[in-house]
Amino acid sequence: MDSIHIVGGQRLEGKISISGAKNAALTLLPCALLTDEKLTLGNLPRLADVDNFSHLLNGLGASTKVEGVKKGEIGRRMTLEAKDIASTVAPYDMVRKMRASILVLGPMLARAGEATVSLPGGCAIGDRPIDLHLRALEAMGAEIELAAGYVKAVAPKGRLPGGDYSFPVVSVGATENALMAAVLATGRTQLFNAAREPEIVDLCNLLVAMGGRIGGIGSSHLIIDGVEGLHGCDYDVMPDRIEAGSYACAAGITGGSIELVGARAADMLAITNALSAAGLVVEFIEKGIRVTADKPLKPLAISTAPYPGFPTDMQAQFMAMLCLAQGESFLEETIFENRYMHVPELRRMGANIDVRGRSAIVHGVGGLTGAQAMATDLRASMSLVLAGLVAKGETEVLRVYHLDRGYERLEEKLSAVGATIERRTAG
Ligand code: UD1
Repeated sequence: MDSIHIVGGQRLEGKISISGAKNAALTLLPCALLTDEKLTLGNLPRLADVDNFSHLLNGLGASTKVEGVKKGEIGRRMTLEAKDIASTVAPYDMVRKMRASILVLGPMLARAGEATVSLPGGCAIGDRPIDLHLRALEAMGAEIELAAGYVKAVAPKGRLPGGDYSFPVVSVGATENALMAAVLATGRTQLFNAAREPEIVDLCNLLVAMGGRIGGIGSSHLIIDGVEGLHGCDYDVMPDRIEAGSYACAAGITGGSIELVGARAADMLAITNALSAAGLVVEFIEKGIRVTADKPLKPLAISTAPYPGFPTDMQAQFMAMLCLAQGESFLEETIFENRYMHVPELRRMGANIDVRGRSAIVHGVGGLTGAQAMATDLRASMSLVLAGLVAKGETEVLRVYHLDRGYERLEEKLSAVGATIERRTAG
C-alpha cells in the first residue's frame, strides 16, 4: 500500500494551481443522467472519487469519455452521454465505496421515474443518514420504500409533480438530490432552508445551462419550475475551495508564502477571514489568492457551520496549523459527530489537544515531531500531512487512498513549493 513520506522543516514558497472542486464534480457528474444529450464537464479533478463516480454512471447506462485538455487547462474534460438509462439500480458495492453515490437517486428518479439505491450505511465521520434526501423527494411526490438495505423511489405517474419542502437541518447532499429531481418535475418545487454552498450554486448554474428553471440561486429559498426536458452543454467545474484552504494552511504552518492560482476568493471568505485572524497576510490577487505567514501564528476560536460559515471540511487542517499557534485555540464541530479522529494522531506527533464532545482545545506547542500516522478520512489525513510539513524528522502518512480521494497530485504540488515529500509504494 502506498504511503506519503515527508521530512518537515521546509518553508514553502511558490505557486500551486488549484484543481476543480471534488464536491462540485460529484454533483455535476450525475446531471448527465438528466438528459439524453451529451454533457461535457471541464476542469474535472483527477481523483479516485471522480473515477468511481464515472464507473457508477457507466453501470447505469451512461458512456463517459475523457477528452483532450484545452490549452492552459489543468483538469480533465469528460463527455458523458446517457441516451437511455439502462439500469436504475446503484448497487451496494458502489455506494459503499463512495457515499456521494446517493446523488444518482434524484436524477434517476426524475429521468426514469424510478431509482433503487443502496443505503450508504455508517461512515468514519459519523452516522450520516439520508432521511432528508428521502423526505424532500417524498414532498415532491415520490413514493419511497426501504427494503433489504436499498431505498426504492418511484414517481407514481412516471414524473414527479414537484412540491414544497423545508429542510429541518441544512444538508448539502439532500439539497442537491432535491434540485436534480425537481428540474424535470411537472410542476413547481420550493426548497426552504436549502444549503447555499458554492458547490450548490455550481450545480444550479449547470442545470440552468442545461435548460432548467431555477430561481433564488445562492439563497436558502430555491424555486424550481420543472421543464419537459434538459439539453446537453459544456461546463467547467468550479475551483476547489477546500483544496485551496488546505494549501493556505500549509503556508501558515511552515511560515511560508503560497499563491493559490485559480482560487476563488468570493467562495472562501470564512476561510480567508480565519487565516487573517491567525495572523496570515491574505492578498486577493488577479490570479487567485496569496497567503503569507510572516509572523507567529495567533490562536483562534472557530465553530463549523453550513456555508457561509466556517466549513467542517477545513476543521482538521486548521487544527493542525493551530497546534503551532501561540496560545489556546477553541474549535467546535457542529456538523458531524466523530470528526476529531485526527486528534490522537496529532498528539502522537507532539500536539497538545483536549477534546470534550464536539469541542476541542488546542494548546499551542513549540514544535511537532515526525511519526507514522494514519487517519480514517480525507481531511483528517490532510491534517497529518500538514503536521508532517513542520514536524522535526520524518513523517509517514499511511492509508493514502483517503488523500487520493480528494487531493489531486498532492506530492507534486507540495514539492513544487519546496516540501520534501514523496509517495512510496510498498511491496
Ligand atoms: C457534503 C460534502 C462534505 C461536507 C458536508 C458538509 C460532498 C460530496 N460532501 O456532505 O464534504 O463535509 O457536505 O459541508 O459534497 N444529515 C441528516 N440527514 C440527511 C442528510 C444529512 O441528518 O439526510 C445531517 C448529517 O448527518 C450532518 C448534516 O446533516 O450532520 C450535514 O450533512 P450534509 O450537508 O448532508 O453532508 P453531505 O452532503 O453528506
